[in-house]
Amino acid sequence: MAALSLGRRAASLPVAAHRVSSILQHGTLKQCRRRLQTTAPPRVSDFAFAFDIDGVLLRSSNPLPRAHKTLSYLQKQNIPFILLTNGGGKSETERVEELSQRLEVPLDVSMFVQSHTPFTELADDYKDKCILVTGGDGDKCRRVAENYGFTDVLTPADLITAFPTLWPFASPQNYKSYARPIPNRRLSSRDHSQRDGDNTVKVDAVFIFNDPRDWALDTQIILDLLLSQSGRLGSLSPKNGNNSLPNNGYQQDGQPLLYFSNPDLLWASAYHLPRLGQGGYKAAFEGVWRAVTNGAKLERRMFGKPHHGTFAFAEKKLENHRHALIGSGRSKIGTEGLKRVYMVGDNPESDVLGANDYQSASGSTWQSILVRSGVYSGGEPVHKPKVVVEDVWDAVQWGLEKEGWK
Ligand code: G3P
Ligand code: MG
Repeated sequence: MAALSLGRRAASLPVAAHRVSSILQHGTLKQCRRRLQTTAPPRVSDFAFAFDIDGVLLRSSNPLPRAHKTLSYLQKQNIPFILLTNGGGKSETERVEELSQRLEVPLDVSMFVQSHTPFTELADDYKDKCILVTGGDGDKCRRVAENYGFTDVLTPADLITAFPTLWPFASPQNYKSYARPIPNRRLSSRDHSQRDGDNTVKVDAVFIFNDPRDWALDTQIILDLLLSQSGRLGSLSPKNGNNSLPNNGYQQDGQPLLYFSNPDLLWASAYHLPRLGQGGYKAAFEGVWRAVTNGAKLERRMFGKPHHGTFAFAEKKLENHRHALIGSGRSKIGTEGLKRVYMVGDNPESDVLGANDYQSASGSTWQSILVRSGVYSGGEPVHKPKVVVEDVWDAVQWGLEKEGWK
């Protein structure tokens, strides 16, 4: 009876019907349902995961025990995920290739956000402007910035090579291999006199792409630029220290904007204790700034987890990645977009706080899961996650349980 009525109903249905009726001819309802399931396009979940890298998937460059198993399981289940890290220092393509090899899981840049990836959205604002990029090995970050579309990118190595007295303790020969001469169009005479040798350069913004390798040189140069008159290195703004002005006149004279890409004070590397991160450099620089300016506030723009800008950028990436998964012959569960995102991290200050505070423009809710495999090793976390688990596999199991995903 049931088979018959199903058959009759099939007659009135469109294409799918054809499949139904042919299956009917060959089996029981249970078999039908199973065959329907096996031939139905795989479903893509309306929830997803965002994975931190250091302390969750990798410890320095070594994969953590169940990282591969977790990511490959999610891929088999068509559960979308992205990697969302405060790390950086090389191009997304290079980093994703490395990660795919180390984790032995096919990954691509559509599912990857690192600390400076959101800077791609700022390149247009600095078209034909000159920026200083610091951090990372050699001038890797300069090349990343150029790939993002920034046109005139200088590094501290270029400046110390062009102006060797800029920092008395630097060894310019250390920078020779990747320093570039400053383009003539960028050079101008410092005090408007025509005397040669007193050239200078105007910088419109400073981007800290990754952990500086020479804290002293970078600190001196960034300090000089923030005390300068409209970013002209080697000049001093007459407004500095003028108490009648906001912030006692500091950063009130067209100085370059200062962008940090990662606030992490500590992170989990190969050493058994957490190490200072870019946030450590920021704290050190703020200390010098307060000392030099007698306590003025440091105007700067922050990116990286826990900041909203980075989570909003990551969410867009995750939604696009999910759509791409759906687009490639898979079907989606439910009609709307992404509903829930599980942020799996090892750092309460960045991963947990960021997910807890994130208000999604598209209405998805983010839930924080804290693992014990990285920075956090126990005790009451400063920011309360939804749950604390041992590692990334347990984190995903917890999420799937919440979702009732079989
Ligand atoms: O420099 C990287 C560090 O700050 C942490 O990276 O992957 O744990 O966000 P991640
Ligand atoms: Mg981490």
